[in-house]
Amino acid sequence: MAMTMAVFLLCAFTAAAVVVGGPSLAESDKILKLPGQPPVGFQQFSGYVTLDSKRKRALFYYFVEAEIDPVSKPLVLWLNGGPGCSSLGVGAFSENGPFRPNGQGLVRNEYSWNTEANMLYLETPVGVGFSYDSSNSSGYEVVTDAITARDNLVFLHKWFLKFPQYQQRDLFITGESYAGHYIPQLAELMVHFNKNKKLFNLKGIALGNPVLEYATDLNSRAEYFWSHGLISDSTYKLFTSSCNYSRYVSEYYRDSVSPICSKVYTQVSRETSRFVDKYDVTLDVCIPSVLSQSKIISPQQVTERVDVCVEDETVNYLNRRDVRRALHARLVGVRKWEVCSNILNYELLNIELPTINIVGSLIKEGIRVLVYSGDQDSVIPLMGSRALVHRLATQMGLETTVPYRVWFEGQQVGGWTQEYGNIFSFATVRGASHEAPFSQPERSLVLFRSFLKGNPLPESF
Ligand SMILES: *[C@@H]1O[C@H](CO)[C@@H](O)[C@H](O)[C@H]1NC(C)=O
Ligand SMILES: *[C@@H]1O[C@H](CO)[C@@H](O)[C@H](O)[C@H]1NC(C)=O
Repeated sequence: MAMTMAVFLLCAFTAAAVVVGGPSLAESDKILKLPGQPPVGFQQFSGYVTLDSKRKRALFYYFVEAEIDPVSKPLVLWLNGGPGCSSLGVGAFSENGPFRPNGQGLVRNEYSWNTEANMLYLETPVGVGFSYDSSNSSGYEVVTDAITARDNLVFLHKWFLKFPQYQQRDLFITGESYAGHYIPQLAELMVHFNKNKKLFNLKGIALGNPVLEYATDLNSRAEYFWSHGLISDSTYKLFTSSCNYSRYVSEYYRDSVSPICSKVYTQVSRETSRFVDKYDVTLDVCIPSVLSQSKIISPQQVTERVDVCVEDETVNYLNRRDVRRALHARLVGVRKWEVCSNILNYELLNIELPTINIVGSLIKEGIRVLVYSGDQDSVIPLMGSRALVHRLATQMGLETTVPYRVWFEGQQVGGWTQEYGNIFSFATVRGASHEAPFSQPERSLVLFRSFLKGNPLPESF
């Protein structure tokens, strides 16, 4: 396994060396102005990084420099999950980027994470958003976690050749949902790569409502539904004893749903209702553009979902020709930009690969880890994440350095937190959905700032 990976990397990097030229490469990716954009003082870039020497496979990025003094600020890579959802459409334009589409133009997000860092949004893997693979005209081949991690590593390596001033910069990787796979797997490759030649100055990773160990994560859904009144006592019993959710998903992706799981899941679906957003059980309506973020985690919702969003500002905006031109983006092999790809052919059973153990190995390397959880999310509920963090900390012998307590944003409680060994922490974001920075931007920014600085969350106001 390690051998195969090394060979892959070697080829990819040889290709990189051939293609890339001088330091002025970033200039052609510079965004002069996005249509409808208010004036700002920071620079933006976007464009492609090709992954192969034939330039058939390419990943699209959007990079926003920090608002103030970018030279002194770290570099932060943001990844959305799915698999197959866009970090540009979801992360940048709905969650923590500097702008949000609104009517004909863009409005500022005053809690943008580029107030604290230089933010790099990557549409990954190939087949997502504006990223493409044109090497095989008969379609997309199966993409696995391993391929995604390798491509992401090649991307970053080649992106540094465009932006050499960022290569030595403190680097953090953040993201949510299925990025609970992407991020630890990418970080692990970086650590491995650094053993030969120190290239990635990786300081920490932050994982929002992440899939880390699918049975624990998925099975906490039953308790979440039940404790929030979405299912009855008797259904809860069935959903924990007759057929739990991890078994259902596992059967579903093997095309072999048993009669008992079918019966239980039908009952659960009926009671929870299609008219409640599972990514935020307190929301009446869908979150525009992010409804289908986790195809894999909520298979039923994809096929049965009702679209209660009448319009989707991000989809409209990113499909404008003038916007595409300003972004240096192209449509390759698709007719339209989609929030979550429908051409990507992902190996869905990869959800069963645990990544919590990789998190442990990163901590051993001195890499800071934050697992945070929007506490209104029933898709990857806080109880699973909290239990996994606690279990790993215990296994590693990490002592509690911040006892379980509230943290503050302004004068209000922003959530709860616990920290282990001054390196590994868990935090909830109170009132937040699966996409925490979307629904609680101010609290999420406080969380982000503390994470970057390595400080415990504010204990008082
Ligand atoms: C192209 O894709 C098709 C369908 O997925 C596959 O059968 C074929 O082997 C691929 N060709 C190459 C050259 O990879
Ligand atoms: C879920 O179901 C599987 C298969 O029946 C079982 O092995 C597992 O222990 C169950 N997990 C929980 C948390 O109930």
